[in-house]
Amino acid sequence: MKKTIAITGATSGIGKATAWQLAAKGHELILIVRNQEKGKELINKLKSRFPGSDFSLYIADLADISSVRQAAKDISQHFERLDTLINNAGGILAKYDEVDSVERTMAINHLGHFVLTLGLLPLLKNSQDARIVNLSSEAHRLAKPRLIFNSSLGQYAPMTAYGNAKLANIWFTKALHQKYGDDGIKSNAVHPGVVTTSFGKGFSPFWDVLLKIASPFMRSPQKGAETSVFLASNPKANEFSGQYFKDLRSVMPSGAARNQKWIDQLWEWSIEKSGAAFGN
Ligand SMILES: NC(=O)c1ccc[n+]([C@@H]2O[C@H](COP(=O)([O-])OP(=O)(O)OC[C@H]3O[C@@H](n4cnc5c(N)ncnc54)[C@H](OP(=O)(O)O)[C@@H]3O)[C@@H](O)[C@H]2O)c1
Repeated sequence: MKKTIAITGATSGIGKATAWQLAAKGHELILIVRNQEKGKELINKLKSRFPGSDFSLYIADLADISSVRQAAKDISQHFERLDTLINNAGGILAKYDEVDSVERTMAINHLGHFVLTLGLLPLLKNSQDARIVNLSSEAHRLAKPRLIFNSSLGQYAPMTAYGNAKLANIWFTKALHQKYGDDGIKSNAVHPGVVTTSFGKGFSPFWDVLLKIASPFMRSPQKGAETSVFLASNPKANEFSGQYFKDLRSVMPSGAARNQKWIDQLWEWSIEKSGAAFGN
């Protein structure tokens, strides 16, 4: 069955491979990207390769809540239904930065997607088979959860900030399942494997060398997209929700990822930090 699927970060790496694989299955795609030129180039390529399919482009920078809110509003005006939302965009930042008093890695990887997801929930509720897929990572095991809610504790460490954001992706997945599972919305998180993409490029000269050495042992973006594509579109994935997936299988995330107090706390924190993001 043809689905309408929205995806963030489809201009590179795993997101791009996910978009191509879903387009090849005949699904309609809504691409939410920050770079208009890259987005247009991708849309043109998809349209010429899959002329019978529908593709549309919306611009949002996940670090800019107002642009995310606007994209969700525009999508809601043009579509009656959304079957799958893939919150794929993300990254790691070498230096501390913040947007609206939120550490920037958390803003991009989690908070922007939080606002986007809640903005698109009414459309998802109109689907008979609604799914949300959140790209997390095994790096969530490196998280220091207490720093998420009080970033003034301790010095900035990029890997910890990234791990915290990826832990938040799992908490968000579980909260969505708990709050909207009864509405038929399935939410799952994914670790895509260690994949050769633009991830971490330019992060530091040392990291670039490390990536170059490691790249022959890393998986391709096509392989890295497999679990996202499965959860987004395969009828068999319909039985799962609130789970953390790796290599097409549900696996156990860290103890912190299953801590209900923190799952609840992240939800409250996200509402507080995103302000009146939902117009209420
Ligand atoms: N690669 C891995 O080994 C690995 C492992 C575990 C998890 N992951 C996760 O997989 C996801 C995809 O990563 P990737 O490896 O494919 O990385 P990538 O090649 O760097 O792609 C990241 C995508 O996110 C977009 N993006 C970044 N910041 C954004 C922002 N502020 N607003 C909107 N879009 C933004 C990028 O847009 P531009 O094209 O404009 O830069 C790009 O399309 C991420 O969530 C990452 O954490 C990756």
